[in-house]
Amino acid sequence: MHCIAPECPLYGGSDSQLQSASSVPRHQLTTTQMDEKGDFLALDLGGSKFRVLKVKVSEDGKQHVQMESQFYPTPKEIIHGNGTDLFKYVAECLTDFMETKDIKHKKLPLGFTFSFPCKQNKLEEGVLLSWTKHFKVRGVQQTDVVSSLRKALRKHQDVDVDVLALVNDTVGTMMTCGYDDRRCEVGVIIGTGTNACYMEEMSNIELVEGDEGQMCINTEWGAFGDDGSLESIRTDFDREIDLGSINPGKQLFEKMISGLYLGELVRLILLKMAKEGLLFNGKLSTDLCTKGKIETRHVADMEKYKEGLNNTKQILTELGLTPSEEDCIAAQHVCTIVSFRSANLCASVLAAILTRLRENKKLIRMRTTVGMDGTLYKTHPQ
Ligand code: GLC
Repeated sequence: MHCIAPECPLYGGSDSQLQSASSVPRHQLTTTQMDEKGDFLALDLGGSKFRVLKVKVSEDGKQHVQMESQFYPTPKEIIHGNGTDLFKYVAECLTDFMETKDIKHKKLPLGFTFSFPCKQNKLEEGVLLSWTKHFKVRGVQQTDVVSSLRKALRKHQDVDVDVLALVNDTVGTMMTCGYDDRRCEVGVIIGTGTNACYMEEMSNIELVEGDEGQMCINTEWGAFGDDGSLESIRTDFDREIDLGSINPGKQLFEKMISGLYLGELVRLILLKMAKEGLLFNGKLSTDLCTKGKIETRHVADMEKYKEGLNNTKQILTELGLTPSEEDCIAAQHVCTIVSFRSANLCASVLAAILTRLRENKKLIRMRTTVGMDGTLYKTHPQ
């Protein structure tokens, strides 16, 4: 299995993704996907950072991709505000980016990577089914986000942008990886949230007519367990995380795995150990008792090879604790357990998808490629 992680060039939405949405069969996809060239704009909303990108695809027998991008903040007022303000903000960032890059005068096609569960009947339409992760914007659920984006863009008469496609980040990752390796047929994200998509045989898809070729399925595996099927492996810490989240009872698998939650899981475990006198001589601190004070980046720092133990000491001290050497070793071990569980859970669901692909192809052994991306995947030392 070959994993492509860094700088997946089109992860962020682009023309290549035009053909990638769930409504386009693979046989159509392979002929068109590999031929496109030119300049495209892309928006990437829903991960740890909101990004606007300019993507140049050139071709000399093989496709080459050059990318320029800019990150924009996503303030709490925006991601917990209302839909009109969200799309107004997105349109403003896009026009600002075009101004900076001096491309306001150009009419460019745009791909919108929108990393949330959507019902897609067309490439340029996506009805948001529910918000996940840290987003909760009023008035957007059950509406078409492409129409909302177009509406907001119409207010900017100085730019002419053609919103051509909406894709999930997993699909963008799979398609991008496909430029490097045409065997890629799975896309996985392990970042703020977690999810995967894969190419399914049309003959197995009842919702769509026709049996020829393949179609991309966004599994939304982060919602695995929302029907109670993970109860035997969920812990008290997982239940506490869920109860304190903005969407209790939802995305239960994601809450055991992804970047938005690992730091908090570690905090809850350390807090319980401290309360039971197993850490810090039984002493607590205000920060240790405060939600969100340990982030996933801290977990990654604590687990780093060589400097990990020093980092642990510094992080715990900054939380207002006075850790002994044993406390640091124990805290580091807690991080490892939480991360290792996350990795194992991801591996097991990925194995299920790969088994499905292998069985679809009626093979005993199969060689395939998985496109991987996501902040947690890219920044966690292990
Ligand atoms: C959440 C979203 C999903 C996305 C994933 C990774 O699980 O629901 O659509 O792909 O996060 O960003």
